Amino acid sequence: APDALRSLVESRIRDVQDFPTPGILFKDIGPLLADPEAFAAIVADGARRHTGRVDFVAGIEARGFIFGAGLAHAMGVGFIPVRKAGKLPGPTVEVSYDLEYGQARIAVQEGAVAPGSRIVVVDDVLATGGTAAAACALLELVGAEIVGLDVVMELAALGGRSALVGREVYSLTVA
Ligand code: PRP
Repeated sequence: APDALRSLVESRIRDVQDFPTPGILFKDIGPLLADPEAFAAIVADGARRHTGRVDFVAGIEARGFIFGAGLAHAMGVGFIPVRKAGKLPGPTVEVSYDLEYGQARIAVQEGAVAPGSRIVVVDDVLATGGTAAAACALLELVGAEIVGLDVVMELAALGGRSALVGREVYSLTVA
């Protein structure tokens, strides 16, 4: 990412100790969303890289919806929500994936994506990569071609890129 954008983004993310549970260092994007120039710069950076090469933006619930919808709007393409299972009216296609403790399940609506559609997947944070990898696999299952994954922040110590080998991963900041 351009240095100025990276510095701006880093200055607008707040570290919160022990949230949501003890031992977790939470990355709060509240200040980033509250700064219209920072949000616009993130969207413009994505639009500069993806305009003309994608048919849809997919956003991962919940914070991927915010950045993803902004990017889709800026490029004049549609937005696909990748949601926690049970939230979308059917028929849906779903996949399960492993969390540190237990499992999670995400869904998209059947028929939301025409076969062969080129999609960029957007989220706020890449941690273990489990969520993003499952979202890409799910969209491929319904016929999409994944162009890449864009995240605002990558937590490198959690090794998310190893869950996404062979995919184009772009992060604005690495912590
Ligand atoms: C967070 C984050 C990513 C995911 C990253 O979402 O927004 O979607 O976790 O973690 P991973 O790389 O280890 O899979 P969360 O599960 O907190 O859901 P929420 O945004 O709905 O609160």
